[in-house]
Amino acid sequence: MCGIFGCILKKGSASSLIHASLKRLEYRGYDSVGIATLYNNQLQIKKGQGKIDEVHQRLNLDDLKGTIGIGHTRWATHGAPLEINSHPHIDCTNKIAVVHNGIIENFSELKSELENNGHNFISKTDTEIIAHLIEDNISKNPKKGLADAVLEAVKRLEGSYAIAVISTIEPDKIICARNESPLVLGYNEKGYYIASDIPAFLPITNKALVIKNGELINISASGYEIKKIVDSTLVSREPKIIDWTPEMALKKGYPHFMIKEINEQPLTLRNTLRLQDHYLDLISTFLDRAKDVFLVACGTSYHACLAASYMFSKLAFLPTYPVYASEFIEQHGKSVNIDSTILAVSQSGETADTLSSVTCAQQRAATILGLTNVIGSTLTRVSRVYVGQQSGPEIGVAATKTFTSELSVLAQLALRLSKKRGKVSQDEMDHLSEKLETIPKNVETIISTQANKIKKIAKKYKKAKIFFFLGRGISAATAYEGRLKLMEIAYVPSMAFPAGESKHGPISLIESGIPVVFICPKDGSHKTLISNIMEMKARGASIISVIETGDEIIKKLSDDYIEVPAGIPEILSPIPFVVPLQLLAYYVALEKGLNPDTPRNLAKCVTVK
Ligand code: M6R
Repeated sequence: MCGIFGCILKKGSASSLIHASLKRLEYRGYDSVGIATLYNNQLQIKKGQGKIDEVHQRLNLDDLKGTIGIGHTRWATHGAPLEINSHPHIDCTNKIAVVHNGIIENFSELKSELENNGHNFISKTDTEIIAHLIEDNISKNPKKGLADAVLEAVKRLEGSYAIAVISTIEPDKIICARNESPLVLGYNEKGYYIASDIPAFLPITNKALVIKNGELINISASGYEIKKIVDSTLVSREPKIIDWTPEMALKKGYPHFMIKEINEQPLTLRNTLRLQDHYLDLISTFLDRAKDVFLVACGTSYHACLAASYMFSKLAFLPTYPVYASEFIEQHGKSVNIDSTILAVSQSGETADTLSSVTCAQQRAATILGLTNVIGSTLTRVSRVYVGQQSGPEIGVAATKTFTSELSVLAQLALRLSKKRGKVSQDEMDHLSEKLETIPKNVETIISTQANKIKKIAKKYKKAKIFFFLGRGISAATAYEGRLKLMEIAYVPSMAFPAGESKHGPISLIESGIPVVFICPKDGSHKTLISNIMEMKARGASIISVIETGDEIIKKLSDDYIEVPAGIPEILSPIPFVVPLQLLAYYVALEKGLNPDTPRNLAKCVTVK
């Protein structure tokens, strides 16, 4: 998730306005920043690694001349957060500058093709190919206008993008296009503003128009024209007047970051399906060769590792040890050696316990693999190979969208490994890959159809002194995560166990009316789980079940139920099944008058041991 901004002003400095607007988009990414303007028919560019304030201190982002320009604040996906990878990116002739938010899936193929045609690449980004594609279109047909050249270029892109392009070829224009990544136009009597998000220009204008998927917009000082990329038909759309405060705008109109981030999951899960094959392949190769594999993490990321241990075992027949990072050195430190592989999972990439485990393992010559949301974090620097989970910055302290993305990456790794090892038939592989593609839609359905029901359940049980969360198999990981969410933001003491364990002790706590949340995908453990529900019911517990739509048996046994679309394979089930639990925790916190974004005593990133 990056932030892009562009403007065409009647007068004044584009660069200082772009700089101020990028500051308001910094929540979308902050590992490098850059601005390009057009002045005297030349591109003027300043860009560098670091947060906007740091780069501004070094370079003074405000003194580029010109009334037209584009800017970018980056959250690295392809290529490390270095100056050469920061946007804007330019073509070989220094005439075209591009900023981009999104991920181009077919960039390797396009890059090879362009390199064979003589184009010279400077960065490791996917974005740079867009500048060269536009250049290629113009050199093949010099009479082509800039907008047409961009149109032809984006037709060749697969993946997600919101781009803004300026060029000395038509120095009075900004051409933008969108597929999946957000893009909004704002305007007033002083000029036109194009951005990833409304907060970028809200202090300047509240007149906004959303550019939709598959559209291209050609902006000049005298107006704009929107057309469909597929067939160039013109689109007419009225602007809206936005009555949000800047604070509301930052949260996209949601009352809290947590609920905004829960709602972002369909999008982030789609992004997580666009990982670079190369890195997934490398990591699965290392896992394949490893003798011992430790999955090391804290908190929510540990729950992702726990779920992953089921995925690796069931799909690739690879035994792995999920370990709390804070226990890793004591529990396994001495047994780690050159044949061991550590897959460290940390959304921040900076969690002290996770990094200490990595250091210990490194000293014992183990191989370190990383999964993180922050490219450029310490974890990426100490890993032999790492993969980014593509969730974009998460501001709510409670991990939500980063958890489901971690699960998606881990499932993709398990599938790769399974294929490498020939453990699952091609039919089964195809089925699982197809199902993985449908998960974002499933999550969308859960949020849109179940949120109101979950709100009512939260109201009903808001005074409960204790909650239980139970699941069998991989759903035990989902149960642990549901418990953590409720405890950390709603301060409700909660227990989670593999459902079979509850009768070995915890069941003695059950009294009439205690809510027990059961995670009930229709997998191999469904029948036994029904017995576990009966045991709890017999002792007076109130059963809240998360079931697949149409699961009439468990529906009848439940006091309350939440439905998840049917037919999700077992190994993918934690992704959709955890979403109702995130919502439950959120609404219980609201019922108790708590702010879920800032739970007491907690920090987003725990950098002490
Ligand atoms: O950044 P990390 O994934 O390493 O963070 C690990 C935990 O601190 C984190 O998941 C924490 O448990 C979350 N606040 C839970 O919502």
